[in-house]
Amino acid sequence: MVQSLLSASLLSISSPSFSIKVGEQGKPMRLRASPGCRVRARAASSKAGPQAVEIPHQWYNLIADLPVKPPPALHPQTLQPIKPEDLSPLFPDELIKQEASTDRFIAIPEEVIDVYRLWRPTPLIRAKRLEKLLDTPARIYYKYEGVSPAGSHKPNTAVPQVWYNAQEGVKSVTTETGAGQWGSSLAFACSLFGLDCEVWQVRASYDQKPYRKLMMQTWGAKLHPSPSSITEAGRKILQMDPSSPGSLGIAISEAVEVAATNADTKYCLGSVLNHVLLHQTVIGEECIKQMEAIGETPDVIIGCTGGGSNFGGLTFPFIREKLKGRINPLIRAVEPTACPSLTKGVYAYDYGDTAGMTPLMKMHTLGHDFVPDPIHAGGLRYHGMAPLLSHVYELGFMEAISIPQIECFQGAIQFARTEGLIPAPEPTHAIAATIREALHCRETGESKVILTAMCGHGHFDLPAYEKYLQGNMVDLSFEEEKIKASLANIPQVVA
Ligand SMILES: Cc1ncc(COP(=O)(O)O)c(C=O)c1O
Repeated sequence: MVQSLLSASLLSISSPSFSIKVGEQGKPMRLRASPGCRVRARAASSKAGPQAVEIPHQWYNLIADLPVKPPPALHPQTLQPIKPEDLSPLFPDELIKQEASTDRFIAIPEEVIDVYRLWRPTPLIRAKRLEKLLDTPARIYYKYEGVSPAGSHKPNTAVPQVWYNAQEGVKSVTTETGAGQWGSSLAFACSLFGLDCEVWQVRASYDQKPYRKLMMQTWGAKLHPSPSSITEAGRKILQMDPSSPGSLGIAISEAVEVAATNADTKYCLGSVLNHVLLHQTVIGEECIKQMEAIGETPDVIIGCTGGGSNFGGLTFPFIREKLKGRINPLIRAVEPTACPSLTKGVYAYDYGDTAGMTPLMKMHTLGHDFVPDPIHAGGLRYHGMAPLLSHVYELGFMEAISIPQIECFQGAIQFARTEGLIPAPEPTHAIAATIREALHCRETGESKVILTAMCGHGHFDLPAYEKYLQGNMVDLSFEEEKIKASLANIPQVVA
């Protein structure tokens, strides 16, 4: 049994700084806005002026500034907080340290910054043409992470994860991928540092996205559809449902199983864990400086949430400023109605994967064996939410809504036809919510500043656009009965 094999070794993943000036204490800073500006900072720009920003040299750890610390991950057998050694079969020491760190800032290794320079700083762009289309007095800005080699924010953490593994002599890594964005990011990072990479891609995405497969293979990764027959976790699922569309939870079980049973192999996760959200704060730190450079302060910050990494990455540095009383933006997460962990899940200890191999993490969950319908935003088909983001939600520092996919693609088409960029299916959720907010501003006459996370492009997701354009897209909504059944299987933990 995988479960017992894993528990035996406790293979439970169970689970130079820059200063920021954002106006005086309690007084949101508002300088002159420059319409249509594109803050694509280049450090050595001759017209540097206020628009040039440098790549941050430190990641930001929100835990240091929270009034209440998040609940620990628990060992699934003893129900005691997990110890670093429990995680060592899966992660290198440095990432385990970061996972539990309470330091406010963590230095980004120079070698990682050097790779970041391939695409960072990423642009902050004002969506002037979308504003015009919507006839809104709101000013809409989007931070665009699609300029990375893999086309999303995911390389921000893939690169340091692989680098730390390489430093500690690891030869190969495994992972899961939903949309294919994370798998291709890890494949890219492995190709830079000479590690082997094996990816379990959720069956629904594997079938929908042949070019993501080829991207991963181009960067040298070995690929399997998940559930697969090469792991015990996968075989179990296939026995119950031979045509299973898969889920991120199932693919995680497969990748963890293989890393856990091979001594020279570690596991990498593309979202959810503290160290992943930590690495993604490079987005928010950069964005704070870019907004400062153009004299803008966000009133509303919007992002999509799958496991919470692009959203946490953009918003955590802004939450720090909010906690200091310097700014007061509303922070809004957007999830699919077909997989609404924050808005319809329960806040409880649950496994991070379907087979129950990981540590127990306190998070918003739909139940670890919940298999979401195969919506096009494969990266949002995860049953849980990052424990740190769940905690921030419980503390009331942010809100969450859910939006069905047809409205998301309607928004994406408006965005593409005005701003030019074709969003990945995941950030279409952020765009649809941004459009809702901008239209609300039209009603009220408020000229709010809306900041949106445009975390990836959709160049390999065009079959989803084809479905929408041909009128064949359907809204797959949340089924109460299905969720009740999976919630009944959440482990009972009295903590
Ligand atoms: C482009 C894109 N956006 C968002 C997500 C969701 O993940 P997270 O919530 O960790 O940002 C994914 C996940 O695969 C993704 O590929």
